[in-house]
Amino acid sequence: MAGAQPQQRRRCRFPALLASVFATVLLLFSPAAGAVEKGANRSSLLGQPRQWATGKDEGEILAEAEARGRGGEDSEAGEQGREFESLDGMLQWAIGNSDPDKLREKAEEIESLSADELLKRQLEIKELMEKLRMPSDAELMKIAIADLNNSSASLEDRKRALQELFVLVEPIDNANDLEKLGGLIPLIQELNNADEGIRTTSAWVLGKASQNNALVQNQILRYGALERLVKMGYSSSEAEAAKALYAISSLIRDNEHGQVLFLSENGYAMLQHILSTASNSVRLQRKVVSLLAYVADFQLSAGKSHAPFLSNHHFIRSVVHMISAPDLDLQEKALLAVRSLLQLTSDDAAGLHMFSGLDDSLEALRMQLNELTSNVDRREYALEVEVLRKEVQIMFQQKFNERPSQANLLCFQKLWCFVWC
Ligand SMILES: *[C@@H]1O[C@H](CO)[C@@H](O)[C@H](O)[C@H]1NC(C)=O
Ligand SMILES: *[C@@H]1O[C@H](CO)[C@@H](O)[C@H](O)[C@H]1NC(C)=O
Ligand SMILES: *[C@@H]1O[C@H](CO)[C@@H](O)[C@H](O)[C@H]1NC(C)=O
Repeated sequence: MAGAQPQQRRRCRFPALLASVFATVLLLFSPAAGAVEKGANRSSLLGQPRQWATGKDEGEILAEAEARGRGGEDSEAGEQGREFESLDGMLQWAIGNSDPDKLREKAEEIESLSADELLKRQLEIKELMEKLRMPSDAELMKIAIADLNNSSASLEDRKRALQELFVLVEPIDNANDLEKLGGLIPLIQELNNADEGIRTTSAWVLGKASQNNALVQNQILRYGALERLVKMGYSSSEAEAAKALYAISSLIRDNEHGQVLFLSENGYAMLQHILSTASNSVRLQRKVVSLLAYVADFQLSAGKSHAPFLSNHHFIRSVVHMISAPDLDLQEKALLAVRSLLQLTSDDAAGLHMFSGLDDSLEALRMQLNELTSNVDRREYALEVEVLRKEVQIMFQQKFNERPSQANLLCFQKLWCFVWC
């Protein structure tokens, strides 16, 4: 994630001349100082001081803030500005840089004010505080969305806007605001950007925003983003395909409608493509097999005894094939997927046919695991996988013995032999 940091970190820049005002505030109005903390908290993310970057610069943002308020102070004084990571830091600096004599003078001056004047002064300072407070998450999101939606924004600005949104959509309230702020359509449009990095990051942001969030899942599904994401899954770039898979997983997790849409977009053909493209990375294949195991478990827990994607026999066979993959982690994931698939499969000839290579794969795996147990470092893991392997084998055996047929008998004999011979 290190690479996902905004490249140009900008910091709040406050005119030095305001520093003494803050020092005065700190000295005399502790409730107002509390307001600063509140402001700092509101705009901070995971306890970090928020830093933002945008196509607009701070001058514009301050100018906008000023236009909202009444605005009197001159923010042009930025020449003497200093960079602060937080309001706290700025206050510390203000105290350190204030002339003690002047502060004393101010204190005396304020002491001599009437109650009315004091109240007026307090309101003025409050207003100033409001104006200078750091922007809220919603404001930051609006800025990033505007950059994304601006057809003349540079690639750089676009990338930065996406990276900012990636961080901003993490809290569920912010993710829920995306649609209201008009952010979903520009994000989904970026899935078609000519730049691979932009497409990839957009998929990542969409996946993050919809993770465990049924509201956002359904909003994104309604815009038809799944079709585009399935296409991205065919990308020859591992990064792009991986992020497309991530977004798809987020969108269809715990979402039956999403799973039906994925099926109708022919998503399983894409998954099969990834499994059967030999040059494809093990990492992608693991993701695919995990996704399938998840979907199968979801169907099982919903009380289904069949799953529509099982009609894609090529795909199921590719998954069975992964039990012989040259990667134990992938093999284990494939076993988990097959265990769930077996429970969803009717014990007829078609079902049997789909799993036709399973007995051989399981036997090859048994021998592989047996060898691994002599390796001290891998022994424990190998034994663990062997327990799972055996479970799948027994399940397979039972499945096709319940209603013996010619084919089942043959299969049974074969199984019988490799269990006991
Ligand atoms: C920020 O808010 C949390 C709880 O919302 C609070 O515990 C913490 O003290 C606040 N921090 C500041 C600097 O106000
Ligand atoms: C769009 O981006 C261009 C180039 O950065 C900028 O000049 C223009 O002001 C932006 N438009 C809006 C509406 O923000
Ligand atoms: C994005 O731009 C389009 C036109 O280019 C405009 O209709 C739409 O309101 C804009 N959305 C946001 C959130 O600014």
